[in-house]
Formats: sequence, C-alpha cells, structure tokens
Amino acid sequence: MTFKEEIKRRRTFGIVSHPDAGKTTLTEKFLLFGGAIHVAGAVKSNKIKKTATSDFMEIEKQRGISVATSVMGFEYDGYKVNILDTPGHQDFAEDTYRTLTAVDSVIIVIDAAKGVEAQTRKLMEVCRMRQTPVIVFVNKMDRPSRDPFEILDEIEEELKIEVRPLSWPIGNGPDFKGVYNLFDKSLYLFTPNKQTLEEGISLDVHSSQLSEEVGVSSAETLREELELVEGVYPDFDKNPYLEGKLAPVFFGSALNNFGVKELLQCFLEIAPPPRPSKAEERIVEPDEEKFSGFVFKIHANMDPNHRNRLAFVKICSGHFQRNTNYQHVRLGKQMKFSSPTAFMAEKKSIVEEAFPGDIIGIPDSGNFKIGDSLSEGSPLNFKGLPSFSPELFRYIENDDPMKSKQLAKGIDQLMDEGVAQLFVSQFNGRKIIGTVGALQFEVIQYRLLHEYGASCRYEPINLYKACWLETDDQGELQDFKRRKNQYMATDKSGRDVFLADSSYMLDMARENFKSIKFHFTSEF
Ligand code: G4P
Repeated sequence: MTFKEEIKRRRTFGIVSHPDAGKTTLTEKFLLFGGAIHVAGAVKSNKIKKTATSDFMEIEKQRGISVATSVMGFEYDGYKVNILDTPGHQDFAEDTYRTLTAVDSVIIVIDAAKGVEAQTRKLMEVCRMRQTPVIVFVNKMDRPSRDPFEILDEIEEELKIEVRPLSWPIGNGPDFKGVYNLFDKSLYLFTPNKQTLEEGISLDVHSSQLSEEVGVSSAETLREELELVEGVYPDFDKNPYLEGKLAPVFFGSALNNFGVKELLQCFLEIAPPPRPSKAEERIVEPDEEKFSGFVFKIHANMDPNHRNRLAFVKICSGHFQRNTNYQHVRLGKQMKFSSPTAFMAEKKSIVEEAFPGDIIGIPDSGNFKIGDSLSEGSPLNFKGLPSFSPELFRYIENDDPMKSKQLAKGIDQLMDEGVAQLFVSQFNGRKIIGTVGALQFEVIQYRLLHEYGASCRYEPINLYKACWLETDDQGELQDFKRRKNQYMATDKSGRDVFLADSSYMLDMARENFKSIKFHFTSEF
C-alpha cells in the first residue's frame, strides 16, 4: 500500500457524551464489528462512578483502565479505525478537550429521553472551535423517548449546529419497531436482541411491504414524518458536514446493537481521513514526507516504583519509524524511540512504523509535556492545545519541610501531565492550583504522596476565573499589571494571567482597561 493510501484509509475519531448516554456501550459495539473484541463487556467503562468520587483506590483503578482504553485501533472493511476514548466524568473535562485536538471527527451520543445535556454542550463548543465534523447518534430508542423532531430541534438550538437526519425511528420504547435508513433507503426492524445483527430490507417507504413489516398505522406515521423530514431538512451534503456546520443524525440503541452498523458504515464513508494540522509556523499536510506529531496526553505509570510515563503522540504528517532520530522541538534535541507502542483494541504492542492519524505511545521518563511537538524536518510547534480557565482554585503548601524538593518535582510533573494548572502569584510567590473539578485536588494530593513521597495541604483562595491577556497597548498593560499586582500570576509557560476574584471585578477591569482583552483560554 502506498503512503497516501495508508493515510486515506485512516479514521481517527472520538466518541463523546454526557455520562450515561451510552458512549462505552457504543464503543464496545464498534470494537465487536472490528473483531477487535469478541464478547460484550470487554471494554470497561473508564468513567469514575458517581458513588466513588472520594475513593482513591477507585481513582487509581480507573486510571489503569483508562490507559488501556485510551486509544482503540482496529481494522474494518479496509479502514484503519482509531477510536480515542474520553473521560466522561466532568472533573476530567480538560483531558477530554485535549483529546479532541487529536481527532479528525467526532460522534456525539445523546440519550433519546434526556436530549442534550450539560456536558454535551461543552464538548460541542470545543468541536465548534476546531470545526470538527460531528455525527450525532440518538441512543436508547428502545426506551420511552422524546419526539424525534423535538430532539433534532434541541440539538440544533443547543449545540448550535444544523442537523440532517439520516435515519428515522419508527416508534420508541416498547413500541420501537426499527429505523428507516435514509442514507441507503432500507428498513431495519428492531428485535431486542443484544448480539445478532439485523439485516436491512431495501424498500421504498411508499411500497405496501412497509405496512406488512411494521403495521398500517406505523407505516402511515413513518410516511408522514419522512415527508416532513424531506420538506424541512435540505438533502444531505457532505461538505457542510466536513466543515463542521452540519451534523448527520442517526437513531438507534447501542445496547441492542441496533443502528450501530449503519452508523459505522456511514461514518467510514463520510468521515474525513487525517486533516491538515495547524502549527505556529504553517499548516502541515498529512501527506508531507517528513514526520511530525504532537503530545496530547501523558499517562503516568501506575507503579509508583517506576516513574515512567506514556506520552501519547498524534502523528500529523510523514512516516514514523522506530529507532529513528526526530527533533524534540521544545528541548531542541534529537531523540529516538526504541519502544513506541500502538494500540489495537485493548492491547498495546511495539510498532515499527505508524502513519498520520495514528496515535503512538512513547515511554517517557520526564522529557515530555502536553503540547510538545516532534519533527523530522524544520521545527514545528503545533497549536490548538489551549489551557482553559480552571473553575476551582486553591493554594498548595508544603506539609513536610524535609520533602520540599520532592513536592516541587511532583507538582511539576503532574502539571506536565495536565492533571491541573499551576499559577504562581506575582504578588506573594505562592503556588496556586487550578482545576476543573474538586476530584483533581484529591488526585494530586494522593499522587504526590504515593508517587513522590511528598505531602501537601491546600489553603482556600477565592477566585473566579483565570484570564489570559491580549492587547496592543503595552502602556495600558503595564498600568493594569501594576494596579492589579495582587491578582497577577504566571502560568506554566511564563505568561501573565489575571486571576479575577469575581465576575464583578472582571467586568470592572474590562470597563477600565478598554484595550485589554480578557480570554478564558490560553490560545486565541
Ligand atoms: P457512558 O459510557 O456514556 O457513561 O454510558 P454507558 O455506555 O456506560 O451506558 C450507560 C447505561 O446505559 C448502561 O447501563 C448501559 O447498559 C445503558 N445503555 C446504553 N445503551 C443503551 C440502549 O440503547 N438502551 C438501553 N435501554 N440502555 C442502554 P447501566 O445499568 O448504567 O450499566 P451496566 O451495568 O448495564 O453496564
């Protein structure tokens, strides 16, 4: 196979959802199709159960599971499919955002009874920022569900994206009879059977066969609804989908393996192969000869005696080869990797080569930070891994004066992994940890102790948001920094950050310093 064919057959995507909508179940069905697993239940959910929010061992166990299921690759119908898993728990939202920078498209799973939920909305914002193509799967149609038109309206309104149904449900809950697939014009009849695959019946909705299959009244309703669908929604066009402006929508039931195969087939047909990546220097095309890639995730070793980590690298261009020298751009040094791993289903194995779209794991003893770039040709710095303003802030203090070195090192490494964000106050030099959820504070404390032998304690600090500043007026910026000295901090890359203690304070700052833009993300 040629290099270009290798790239073209790759589909690297993420499945995202609000917890419990059915992401794990759908992932598992995909893997079953790919022959990557053979029994249902093989993929453990990496979600941290609600009841276990303070159970450290549970967190550790989950970390172990989530490294195994971080990336799942399989071959299907000539395609190389790479599914990137994202943590469902909202406290790990930042991790999910970063994973989304490494995918070329996304499938969003929505619960048919609940519709669009909070987490889905946030994730969609990230997709929109990056113009990621999105397909929606409305799941759990075997349960009493909301009206499909209502769900579509809600998706359009709440996720701010146009929709185009490509399948249509016939009833729901106990009356769920199946779906009509508008993409290949076939009827799929539902039997609540978890393992066998349904075969589509190719038929026109106006044929009498439809009434024979689903009954006269359901057939009538389907015809009416489809007429409305065709009237309301424009014909499906691949281009707006690829531009991230239009989401095709499928209905089904992941648990019953229903509607999943059609989703996968349509996905493979329309979803984009690896897309160009933005570097500070230029746009990088996947079929460029020279290898380049970036680190979007770092996973610490579970074994505290071996502090080795695994850096997840998304290949952006070129042909990656084992034991070949590549430049670690930030450190400005050549490195070669003797045991890069690929992820097939839930197994890891050493690979000799990899192509754009693939994710490889590189064992690392502390050389990598999230966002680091590797390149074979001229140095490239990939963009698109912004830090988002944390929601919660606390001072972190050393609780064991004998271990201050260990603490500093531990904090440093955990921040490189992206567990949380560290800010250093320019006013008093104290370290401030910012997180998305309360759970991270416990994870940090636990890991500092178990992996670095350092104890820390937290002290409260009342902050609302971290803002990165942008202005052309250096004079005003200096004035601002002087006046707000108490609230200025430095982030991990040495940039100025304004830590506002309330939305009122931020509004006032905006009012008084008109040339300064206050951003809630580090990239703008
Ligand atoms: P998540 O990864 O998005 O958090 O969701 P997950 O797949 O774990 O699914 C959440 C729950 O919803 C699971 O039940 C799962 O079995 C169920 N589910 C998924 N798809 C469907 C579907 O199409 N129909 C119905 N009726 N249920 C579905 P659970 O009881 O929470 O977990 P489990 O003990 O069954 O694993």
